[in-house]
Amino acid sequence: MLDNLFSTFTIKGKTLRNRSVVAPMVMNLCNLDGTCTERFTAYHETKAKGGFGMIITEDFAVMPNGKGFIQVPGLWEDSQTDTFKEFTKRIHAQGAVLIAQIYHCGRQTSIQMIGEVPWAPSADPCPLMQEPVHEMTIDEIKQVVEAFGDCARRAEEAGFDGVELHGAHGYLLAQFMSPYSNQRTDEYGGAMENRIRFAEECIRNVRSKVTDDFIVGYRISADEHVSGGRTLEDTKTIVPYLERAGIDYVHVTAGCYGAIDALCPSMYTKHAWIADDAMEVKQVTKLPVISVGRYNDMRIADQVLGCGKADLIAFGRASLADPAAPNKAKEGRFEDIITCIGCEQGCIGGILPQGPGQCILNPFTANEYNTPYEVKAETPKKVMIVGAGPAGLEAAIEAAKSGHTVEVYEKRRWAGGQFRLGAVPPSKGEIASFIQWQLNQLKKLNVPVCFETEVTKDLVVEKASDVVVVATGAEPLIPASIPGIDLPHVVTAHDVLEGKALGGNRTVVIGGGSVGCETANYIASSHKAVTVVEMLEDVATDEQTGPRWQLLEDMEKHHVRILTETTVKEIKEGCVVLEGACNETLKADKVVIAVGSKPQNSLAEELIALGCNVKVIGDAAKAGLAGKAIREGFELGRSL
Ligand SMILES: Cc1cc2nc3c(=O)[nH]c(=O)nc-3n(C[C@H](O)[C@H](O)[C@H](O)COP(=O)(O)OP(=O)(O)OC[C@H]3O[C@@H](n4cnc5c(N)ncnc54)[C@H](O)[C@@H]3O)c2cc1C
Ligand SMILES: Cc1cc2nc3c(=O)[nH]c(=O)nc-3n(C[C@H](O)[C@H](O)[C@H](O)COP(=O)(O)O)c2cc1C
Repeated sequence: MLDNLFSTFTIKGKTLRNRSVVAPMVMNLCNLDGTCTERFTAYHETKAKGGFGMIITEDFAVMPNGKGFIQVPGLWEDSQTDTFKEFTKRIHAQGAVLIAQIYHCGRQTSIQMIGEVPWAPSADPCPLMQEPVHEMTIDEIKQVVEAFGDCARRAEEAGFDGVELHGAHGYLLAQFMSPYSNQRTDEYGGAMENRIRFAEECIRNVRSKVTDDFIVGYRISADEHVSGGRTLEDTKTIVPYLERAGIDYVHVTAGCYGAIDALCPSMYTKHAWIADDAMEVKQVTKLPVISVGRYNDMRIADQVLGCGKADLIAFGRASLADPAAPNKAKEGRFEDIITCIGCEQGCIGGILPQGPGQCILNPFTANEYNTPYEVKAETPKKVMIVGAGPAGLEAAIEAAKSGHTVEVYEKRRWAGGQFRLGAVPPSKGEIASFIQWQLNQLKKLNVPVCFETEVTKDLVVEKASDVVVVATGAEPLIPASIPGIDLPHVVTAHDVLEGKALGGNRTVVIGGGSVGCETANYIASSHKAVTVVEMLEDVATDEQTGPRWQLLEDMEKHHVRILTETTVKEIKEGCVVLEGACNETLKADKVVIAVGSKPQNSLAEELIALGCNVKVIGDAAKAGLAGKAIREGFELGRSL
């Protein structure tokens, strides 16, 4: 099975046990001074144990002013080297080849992060960071070139098998290469040969400071996906120059900060979306090529390898969702793999505010250092779980693993609660794979899930459990103050997504949060006219940047009309009266309410009054997102 993926591969005399590679991902797990922590080590060690052939760590800053995130690792001075020696030993002990990605982020950082004006080839600010930048002098360019080499030397001293120069995603190496960010007129700007000079010098400096069998890789965005940026054709011209400068592999990715949705493609992007770019690069070089980008299933990776489009496949977020995916796939246990859904809430959503990266589906990720895989309950209990949403199911898994006797009750015919409804709109279907994963685990743990059974206080009394976990979720908020809200053509987003109500030929959705926008997108995808009315200045602001851009693009494709700073004054038969920035009266044969939700916890109140031992988790405690519900279920299940 998966013979392509599970075949060995040798780079520079180092043999990888298979062709799965962990893609570099900033997780903010190191100390503020860039030194190693147990949290950083345990996080990577778990992936090495999980069977990945090669691990490329997040980017080590080559200089303090090259940091883009607060707790990235650093090898910018000799004193940091020793702190990574134990790290490299532990990863090697698990059989993975280990590469340190190294970078300088140039203008894609902020003065608050590095304490000085960010450096760049030219004085143009990054469109995302929008901060003044300093045009580097020739002397400063030479300093960075030396810093790359010194950083690589330290990586070798620390025990890494190689380094990967981060020449992708619009960081300093890419800034020099691209006409999008380099307007210099000296020997580092203008013609392509000048724009790549900085990268060539960095590679040569690295090579001169490491031994011959040390691996030197290069990550490159095949296409920057911004107007005026580097294209695939440019990249194909450039790669042979990098090969001559001394690199050992090419890692083909996409995008820059101006194209975050290409840098880190969300659920709106198809799987293996830039495998063909890797294949094009393979045609211009003899070097091994790594492909990355929305490989969330080992079987897809195997097929791309089988087609010869790449030599190795890198898994970023898929390795956060399930660090043991290679081992499970090798054993044919696909039903046990947690599939990345491309939501970006835990990973990108974790690091952007400078916290640790996480995965909403896997509470272990980045918490391996203080979270044992299993805990055993001192006194096994009889546990009744009410609600088979993500919170209830996660609590059931952990409680059963801890040794409790668990039963789950769900009033509907199906599991997943509101999260399952979230899987209905276009491109969000993979959410359902997580619910299926939870059900698979419960089946293996022999935990019954009783569907179509609404739990009442009488049933609780009859079952006489030691603990009742109330995970009854949330219900839609209804803005009672809007005249006409009770009319028969007014329904909720939940009703539409559950199939209880259809969208009309002309639908008005009240509320432009992500639920309102996704529901509007869903209705509009079957060629219906839909308008979203939002009182705030913008819509879907509760989404992460990449998925938000892609959602808005999809809504535009489906001709969804968006009205902001507008409220609904009244709903009438056949129309909706608006006020605010738009004060039209819109024709509407269906009105969909999507203005938030409120906890559904009346059962909990009744049970507490009865004196039962009740624990309330997830949206039933406070309406939020699935990550919070899953985490609460996880923590409660192992602490009963
Ligand atoms: C349309 C939509 C899209 C969403 N998309 C996302 C997303 O993309 N990412 C994200 O992180 N979050 C998303 N959310 C939010 C996320 O779905 C919720 O935060 C999460 O589902 C809450 O989980 P829960 O288990 O606490 O409750 P719920 O998911 O609400 O599950 C509660 C379950 O309890 C059952 N129940 C209730 N009362 C009883 C009873 N008395 N007896 C038996 N069963 C009972 C219900 O039928 C339900 O199945 C979305 C929400 C909606 C509505
Ligand atoms: C949280 C997070 C941090 C990332 N940090 C880096 C990084 O340090 N260096 C890098 O080259 N790419 C980084 N990336 C991009 C990934 O390496 C990868 O190219 C991208 O996530 C697409 O691959 P995937 O679909 O397998 O996740 C990061 C992505 C995520 C989600």
